[in-house]
Amino acid sequence: MAALLEVEHLKKYFPTGRGTVHAVDDVSFTINEGETMGLVGESGCGKSTLGRTCIHLLESTEGKLLFQGEDVTHLNKKQLAEFRKKVQIIFQDPFSSLNPRMTIRDTVIEPLMLSRQFEGAQLEKEAENLMDLVGIERRFYNSYPHELDGGRRQRAGVARAISLKPKFVVCDEPVSALDVSIQAQILNLLMDLQDEFHLTYMFVTHDLSVVRHISSKICVMYLGQMVEVAPTKELFDKQYHPYTKALLSAIPSIDIHHQQKRIMLKGEITSPINPKPGCRFAPRCLYATDECRKPDQPLVEVGPDHFVSCCRVKEINNL
Ligand SMILES: Nc1ncnc2c1ncn2[C@@H]1O[C@H](COP(=O)(O)OP(=O)(O)O)[C@@H](O)[C@H]1O
Ligand SMILES: [Mg+2]
Repeated sequence: MAALLEVEHLKKYFPTGRGTVHAVDDVSFTINEGETMGLVGESGCGKSTLGRTCIHLLESTEGKLLFQGEDVTHLNKKQLAEFRKKVQIIFQDPFSSLNPRMTIRDTVIEPLMLSRQFEGAQLEKEAENLMDLVGIERRFYNSYPHELDGGRRQRAGVARAISLKPKFVVCDEPVSALDVSIQAQILNLLMDLQDEFHLTYMFVTHDLSVVRHISSKICVMYLGQMVEVAPTKELFDKQYHPYTKALLSAIPSIDIHHQQKRIMLKGEITSPINPKPGCRFAPRCLYATDECRKPDQPLVEVGPDHFVSCCRVKEINNL
């Protein structure tokens, strides 16, 4: 499989009056063409910032971005316009991404019109095809966003995002605001569209059962850093980072013979403002030693495509 997006030592800092927020702090991973990488971690750990920085909605502070093998870290205006055709984002709350004064039809037509690939009747036809594709019924074409239920509103957000056939879509908690029954419909829609248009997704969520269903690979973040990345099945079979172990232990098992003990984390989440060097999880980690507080912590390969950012991973796991 060819790499679509390669992220190397990416950092995104926000200078604020109270210090510098290290929202994304030295994160590296690769997403292959046609696959879905789930990005998980607690609220505030930097998932949205990472997703946005990868598609140039935010400019990186440091690091390198490669897209289809090309260096896209720094783009001029013309290059950015080209890049924007290939990447898209779907937000959690389509209310904030859809114009409340525009009908669903006009919402879907807008990007098509701006692209200048379609005109007149062809424009209408293309928009109707798209609305049909995402499952918005004809009777809602002339409705406004507030007249739709959450599921249909998100379908409109999806139609807009895929209208210009992007290669890569960041899905930022696209089902988190929806009822569970509707969540499954939207996830199925996203997976069908992925097959049909060979899309590559970064799927951001704090819900592990959602990523398990949709991703081929999972990246776990903690306070701006990547702690573990692995193929989905592999990660659910065996976690090596103490934070990933705690995170996964919180999912209730349906198999009563395999109830695992929930690992409760002690201590507070530290602040991402001017953080201390070393592993960000160390203050809450049962296994932390002085070694963990040194800068430039290693990324250790523990299995095929399975990496863990923990200098003590081998001792802890008896590897
Ligand atoms: N524009 C900004 N200015 C300052 N801090 C920000 C900004 N955007 C995000 N942050 C901070 O960066 C951290 C990561 O935020 P975010 O990427 O939204 O996390 P997540 O999506 O995982 O909840 C948080 O501490 C947040 O407060
Ligand atoms: Mg977010």
